[in-house]
Amino acid sequence: MQDVISYIKDNQQNYIEELKDFLRIPSISTLPENKDDINRCANFVADKLRNAGMSRVEVIQTEGHPLVYSEWLGAPGKPTVLVYGHYDVQPVDPIELWENQPFDPVVKDGKIFARGATDDKGQMYMHIKSIEAFFKTEGSLPLNVKFIIEGEEEIGSESLESFINNNTDLLKCDTVLVSDTALYDEGIPTLTYGLRGLSYLEVEVTGPNRDLHSGTFGGGVGNPVNILAGMIAKLHDKNGKITIPHFYDDVLKLTKKERDNFKSLKFSDKKFAKELGVAALEGESGFTTLERLWARPTLDCNGIIGGFTGKGAKTVIASKASAKVSMRLVPNQDPKKISKLFTKYFKSLAPKSVKVQVTDLHGALPALTPLDNPATVAASVAMEKAFDKKIVYMREGGSVPIVTVFSKKLKAPVVLMGLGLNTENLHSPNEHFNLTHFQLGIMSSAYFIKEFSTK
Ligand code: BES
Ligand code: MN
Ligand code: MN
Repeated sequence: MQDVISYIKDNQQNYIEELKDFLRIPSISTLPENKDDINRCANFVADKLRNAGMSRVEVIQTEGHPLVYSEWLGAPGKPTVLVYGHYDVQPVDPIELWENQPFDPVVKDGKIFARGATDDKGQMYMHIKSIEAFFKTEGSLPLNVKFIIEGEEEIGSESLESFINNNTDLLKCDTVLVSDTALYDEGIPTLTYGLRGLSYLEVEVTGPNRDLHSGTFGGGVGNPVNILAGMIAKLHDKNGKITIPHFYDDVLKLTKKERDNFKSLKFSDKKFAKELGVAALEGESGFTTLERLWARPTLDCNGIIGGFTGKGAKTVIASKASAKVSMRLVPNQDPKKISKLFTKYFKSLAPKSVKVQVTDLHGALPALTPLDNPATVAASVAMEKAFDKKIVYMREGGSVPIVTVFSKKLKAPVVLMGLGLNTENLHSPNEHFNLTHFQLGIMSSAYFIKEFSTK
């Protein structure tokens, strides 16, 4: 094992150069114009798996973006780890706020800046490098490894979901290892045991049959932009609670043990507010910030479109206004049920002067993994070894939709060994990944493979 760790340490600079090549591919999953880049990126991942020493590597075409599947099953009788990650990234807008070109990676202050650096190329690449270190030093792995890497995580993982449903034997494993979440703080080894789910909808409010002069018609007809804004405002009460009837019915209450664990993390509201540049925090009354972020459901308007938004002034009443609304869900809320409750309530808020259309875009189930399974125990030991510090356990406000599909269909515990930081600007300009964490992640992955091989 010492050889493996030394090999990883000696190759740090090579890993960074390879990661740069990976980050140069603009694999934006949501934009049709990047389809070729998506294919190129899948092939890049496949090549790296092949070069690392995996025996079977396949790029699998789907109705959407290709999947990369790989396996090395040379340790019969030993456990099997399935590594999951995603090679797709979010769009780069607003481009003018980037300090370097998003697909021209730059290393500065021990961080690598590029779209996908932390979400999820840098994190996923750690596992390819850890298995490579075993092959290069010991010639084999102490357990069996499979990889399933997708290109649709940022757009709902549809193709992977059907692939899992149709290939449960191929993907059979003892645990799923995922690095697509964050550390609690810099240098703190962390395992995440909960993710929020998601229900994402689009609403459209239509008033008059065309745009109107706001002088001639203002006051005589309902304005869809005003009305939509008012309807959105009604979705919360003054205590920050969501007003949709039955919205909280299935919410699992926090246990005393969990509340105590959250408290022990010594979260500073002041530091959090300062880092975000806000004078005060806001949220549901009766809960701490960590409870609100990790264990309470929320509703946010993600975008609002309507009327005149160009430079200057135009006096107009728009015919239509629309908004994107998402709700982060917690166990045991069900995205389909929540979308229905939202739709019914939202429609009921509309005055007679407008028509309302609600479209359910996508959803994800919330996840909670028990901490006492052998894989999580091995992961804690592994991270503690790599960081030489005590592990902390946290939940996460974001979603990785495929996690519950893995645990349900493969009946294997999912280990969320994330090495990102929530300050690394994922989905926003100047995304970056801490290179010390990149290195520690490769070591954590290697220690995990060793630890779990004896379980
Ligand atoms: N890696 C993120 C999830 C995440 C975000 C983990 C923040 C830890 C901290 C993932 O790629 C992501 O962005 N998920 C989306 C899912 C959605 C598109 C269905 C999310 O949470 O918005
Ligand atoms: Mn991700
Ligand atoms: Mn993401």
